[in-house]
Amino acid sequence: MDLDLALRTTGAVREFTGDPVADDVVYRLLDAARFAPSGGNRQAWKVIVVKDPALRARLRDLYLVGWSEYLAMRSAGLVPWAPVTDRDAEGAALQRASQGSPRTAVNLGDFAEHLDRVPVLLVLLADLRGLAAADRDLPRYTLVGGASIYPFAWSILLAAHGEGLGGVFTTMLVRSEDEVLPALGIPEGWVLAGALALGYPAGAGRATRLRREPVERFASTDRFDGPPFAA
Ligand SMILES: Cc1cc2nc3c(=O)[nH]c(=O)nc-3n(C[C@H](O)[C@H](O)[C@H](O)COP(=O)(O)O)c2cc1C
Repeated sequence: MDLDLALRTTGAVREFTGDPVADDVVYRLLDAARFAPSGGNRQAWKVIVVKDPALRARLRDLYLVGWSEYLAMRSAGLVPWAPVTDRDAEGAALQRASQGSPRTAVNLGDFAEHLDRVPVLLVLLADLRGLAAADRDLPRYTLVGGASIYPFAWSILLAAHGEGLGGVFTTMLVRSEDEVLPALGIPEGWVLAGALALGYPAGAGRATRLRREPVERFASTDRFDGPPFAA
């Protein structure tokens, strides 16, 4: 696939056909994605291909915990888990949501409810000893460490698109990291970066018209408040 087309059309896919994805296809995706950049070329990632149905069901249940919190915050008009936010409003939204059983109070969506049945489920880990987190000591939320891991996840999705597959990167499971780590036998020092679902796209998953802001909205000249950068 043409690179420019791939960059413009690799959207989140959450609906899959029932077709299985062969292990050699998954292997090829990982084999392409391993060329992703990372700070100091540390490649401090690890992937667990989760196949066991009981483990998948456990991960789905843990995903639903985060997902119901996400929906509660979003319906309160908040950006879920934004590092800078109104914590009181967040607490109130979560409190309201916890008063009903989340699985019956809101429709959690087919993807979340059926996460255990996606054709491919990858759990992505990061080794904290291998991240060049240049902002580690700043008195603010740290961001840079993840930049050594997430390009790898994005490369998996791009490679998947190139193979006619679709998928989505997810982070809800990170809310339940304490339970995910022992469930998958993950040793000390490793943390959860997210999970990816992959499969052959079905239904709405096949649409590729992505809504993104134009360059002028996010690129400026010389200063943050400088004139919009234009061609
Ligand atoms: C850091 C990150 C976390 C995300 N977490 C989730 C998630 O937990 N669940 C989910 O369904 N999608 C998740 N997504 C997918 C986004 O919702 C998706 O990329 C975005 O809405 C754009 O969708 P589109 O490509 O269909 O336009 C995540 C994406 C990123 C980059």
